[in-house]
Amino acid sequence: MRACCRAWSVHDETHFGMNTSPSTWISRQCPAKINLSLRILGKRPDGFHDLETRMVKVALSDELKLRCLGQGSGQVQCCCSDASLPVDAGNLAVRALLLMNQELGQALDWELELHKRIPHGAGLGGGSSNAAAALRAGNEVLGQPLRRQRLMELAAQLGSDVPFFVLDENAAEARGRGEILTPISFPWSLPLLLIKPPFGVSTPWAYQHWAQSLPWPQHPRAAEPQAWGSAVNDLENPVFAKHRLLPALKAMLLDRPEVATAMMSGSGSTMIAVLREGLGEALSLRAAVQEFCGPQTQVELCGSLQER
Ligand code: C5P
Repeated sequence: MRACCRAWSVHDETHFGMNTSPSTWISRQCPAKINLSLRILGKRPDGFHDLETRMVKVALSDELKLRCLGQGSGQVQCCCSDASLPVDAGNLAVRALLLMNQELGQALDWELELHKRIPHGAGLGGGSSNAAAALRAGNEVLGQPLRRQRLMELAAQLGSDVPFFVLDENAAEARGRGEILTPISFPWSLPLLLIKPPFGVSTPWAYQHWAQSLPWPQHPRAAEPQAWGSAVNDLENPVFAKHRLLPALKAMLLDRPEVATAMMSGSGSTMIAVLREGLGEALSLRAAVQEFCGPQTQVELCGSLQER
């Protein structure tokens, strides 16, 4: 009965004026995010964990291109610059368009191109950002049949981090499993070094091992208060115990005078160093990090996106 009512209201209100004819390509940037703090409050009956986290978008992005081919068999043809990523429903952006079709009761065909720069398995939200961009761009191509609130609900079905990327704002506090968002003022443009080792971390694995993980011995500088957040990540405990390069790298970073603080982003494996000076001062640090981690580690200098 409930589903029936929802279907009625969707068709009655939100599909009015929907444009399902073939469209031209549209292109959107999909920014990465970092977690400047991530506290786990406990495990929930649904298997997820309740969180308190502060997320900020950063100036490292993928590009998504999308066009609607019109009514067809409801398929998404996806082409991705990273051959190691799935291009079927295992890709979150493809799943976003399939979900959009389902929500609208349409069998639209879509063509999607993903030009990846954000590493995956990295705790930087690349897949979630692609999915949010696909939802927003798809809705735009169709003449906005879905309201922002409904897009947020669909985003939450796709993944805990996806709603954050549907927001216009660049910074937010997230609660619940990550989908309850409060945009925040974030007047800092933090100079960052993002360090992605050659291995990734599975998000379910990190959460599953959080409860039995022991607190990792903290570097004396790790708890220094920061104006923009508490620089704590509870998922470091399980991930550091498995990947010993990461705590060693964190200690190395905190020993450097250019680094204000260092921590893991999300469920890893990316480590973030927040720098004291502008990005121009960071080249020697970047070289030192590359040498410490080896040539297969991706080291990116970038800034967080600012918002007043
Ligand atoms: O929501 P998302 O698909 O990103 O979550 C991937 C996995 O990470 C979940 O299946 C769950 O195991 C874990 N997770 C969690 N608590 C959260 C977010 C994710 O336990 N708040």
